[in-house]
Amino acid sequence: LYIGIDLGTSAVKLLLMDGNGEIKKIVSKEYPLFFPNPGWSEQNPEDWFEQSMNGLKELTAECDKSQIAGISFGGQMHGLVVLDEEDNVIRPAILWNDGRTGEETEYLNTVVGKETLSKYTANIAFAGFTAPKILWMKRHEPERFQKIKKIMLPKDYLAYRLCGTFCTDVSDASGMLLMDVKNKCWSKEMLEICSITEEQLPKLYESYEVVGSLKKNIAEELGMTEEVKVIAGAGDNAAAAVGTGTVGEGMCNISLGTSGTIFISSKKFKVDENNALHSFAHADGNYHLMGCMLSAASCNKWWSEEILKTTDFVNEQAGITKLGENNVFYLPYLMGERSPHNDPKVRAAFIGMSMDTTREEMTQAVLEGVAFGLRDSLEVARSLGINIARTKICGGGAKSPLWKKIIANVMNVKVEVIESEEGPALGAAMLAAVGCGEYPDVETATKQFVKTIDTVEPEKELVEKYEERYQKFKNIYPAVKNLF
Ligand code: XUL
Repeated sequence: LYIGIDLGTSAVKLLLMDGNGEIKKIVSKEYPLFFPNPGWSEQNPEDWFEQSMNGLKELTAECDKSQIAGISFGGQMHGLVVLDEEDNVIRPAILWNDGRTGEETEYLNTVVGKETLSKYTANIAFAGFTAPKILWMKRHEPERFQKIKKIMLPKDYLAYRLCGTFCTDVSDASGMLLMDVKNKCWSKEMLEICSITEEQLPKLYESYEVVGSLKKNIAEELGMTEEVKVIAGAGDNAAAAVGTGTVGEGMCNISLGTSGTIFISSKKFKVDENNALHSFAHADGNYHLMGCMLSAASCNKWWSEEILKTTDFVNEQAGITKLGENNVFYLPYLMGERSPHNDPKVRAAFIGMSMDTTREEMTQAVLEGVAFGLRDSLEVARSLGINIARTKICGGGAKSPLWKKIIANVMNVKVEVIESEEGPALGAAMLAAVGCGEYPDVETATKQFVKTIDTVEPEKELVEKYEERYQKFKNIYPAVKNLF
């Protein structure tokens, strides 16, 4: 048996799978997210650990624990976790959607320079990346900065607590802006720019490599043996790509979670000339390009739960019948935006309402606005000559048939629905299976596990209507960005 742990932003999701890829059980445990200042976003690593332990106990309550061979992870990316000499967490983790580092990001991109950053790391600075957060701590919390002994990413904190190995994997480390992505090693130049040393950083592994096994006290608490292997795991997007079979050359996956990403796998290392897409290592040993919007399913969650005061998304979407014919536009920038605008200050907006605008039209505009935001990244990929005719889809938002239809038509791509939308947790369990030798490599595992069960085809008439609306949507950001 293999366990995949998806350390998300709203909850940790744990999945138990057998060697044939059959999902035995899924457990989800929530923890709080803190916004201590406008645009800031933090979590307590101790909450991740506690809820993961609770989740592991519940997940394995009925199974024969002696059959558990390996545990691996998919984790929210970019988050800065810092530990002191005694392994105490120095400050709450600063998350991927935190926008406090506007000045540090600007410094990196203009004073160090985009070209130099791209030469060192294959990427430029975005506010959510880890390196600008380290610079922020150095400037704003110098005493805490002095105490830093270990720097790690969210899922690496779990691995450290479970097996005691100070490690990370190349897909997640790519998002720190500290790694030379092409050569998969730490960039000495970037460490110097951030005033840190290699000793403060974890050892780099491929995502499917074994990093250790359960510590005695942890194994005892979980009722497992110390033989249970811990496998490095991946950033949640790379793990999701494994879970949806997005490996090898030119495959695409869309993740509709708290964030929205478009992920394109590649056997070769590639960099987009303008660095609008991230150029990262993949969990299958290769590479990928990715665009990331900071608020995707979270826009729908905010709109439904905070404003409309309903959690019944199905009922809320049931009244939407006029696709492509909405006059209302929604800009999905609740937490600023990463790809392609790299603008932590911009905020969300509704535009185009009139006296007869209905609640359904505004809900529809939210779903469409997220699809348009994803299309912005798709257009960057297309401009690089990458032809994307079909995509997989996963994440909480992928449960909505209507949203999948909107995405297929806004992007003019076939959306392939796979048996399980549990992208990152399933991918993590698959990485554990590969690490334990059940499969020779990640690609072979995905061929065995991932089954497409349906395809949402774009419809000519709707594609045309949405094309017209997308061209209008594109004009809104430049018109409003100076308001924020
Ligand atoms: C990717 C990114 C998000 C988080 C979400 O670059 O920041 O997708 O990984 O957990």
